[in-house]
Amino acid sequence: MAEDSENKTNLAVFVSGRGSNLESIIDSCSAGLLEPLARVALVVSSKASSGACRIAESAGIDRFIYSKDIPLEDLLATLRDKAISFIALAGYLRRIENEILQRYSGKILNVHPALLPKFGGKGMYGMRVHQAVIEAGEKLSGATVHYVTEDYDAGAILAQETVEIGSNETADSLADKVLTLEHRLYPEAIAKALTA
Ligand code: GRF
Repeated sequence: MAEDSENKTNLAVFVSGRGSNLESIIDSCSAGLLEPLARVALVVSSKASSGACRIAESAGIDRFIYSKDIPLEDLLATLRDKAISFIALAGYLRRIENEILQRYSGKILNVHPALLPKFGGKGMYGMRVHQAVIEAGEKLSGATVHYVTEDYDAGAILAQETVEIGSNETADSLADKVLTLEHRLYPEAIAKALTA
């Protein structure tokens, strides 16, 4: 793993929306498990304005807006200029291009709000996941951190934990429960990957 003089990995977090996992990773880098290991050196957002962009801005972290009209080469150059050696996807809705997968092989993680391999794959994101879990009558759901490969939600699982689904559980209440779990599990899993 490429590290700087402080022995910290330069992490890029890729986002598209609210940014609560981005926030938990930033917090963990400043005063948590990730503090000795990594810093968020770049936030890549597929949207020009998002909760995640505002979180990055108030944390003083450089942002790269990767909208559809921006060439992949510009993103690759920015990742190189910022000496990014590990990527965490946190609610990022664009497909990761093969060039990035190749350059960062085994160094890209994603967090998914269900117990993969169930309730994953193309189109399974956001509230759709929790609605499907409730409709299937599951007794357990949870969060999964996995390596990113060319197939959606199909890479090796690095960390997974469960939450119980109550008899009156709704998709909304389940989403809250799982998100709370993600905020602890994802920084833990990133730390595990960086020290493996
Ligand atoms: C999370 O539920 C995560 O599991 C999924 O997208 C959501 C992102 O939420 N991949 P946030 O933007 O981190 O708040």
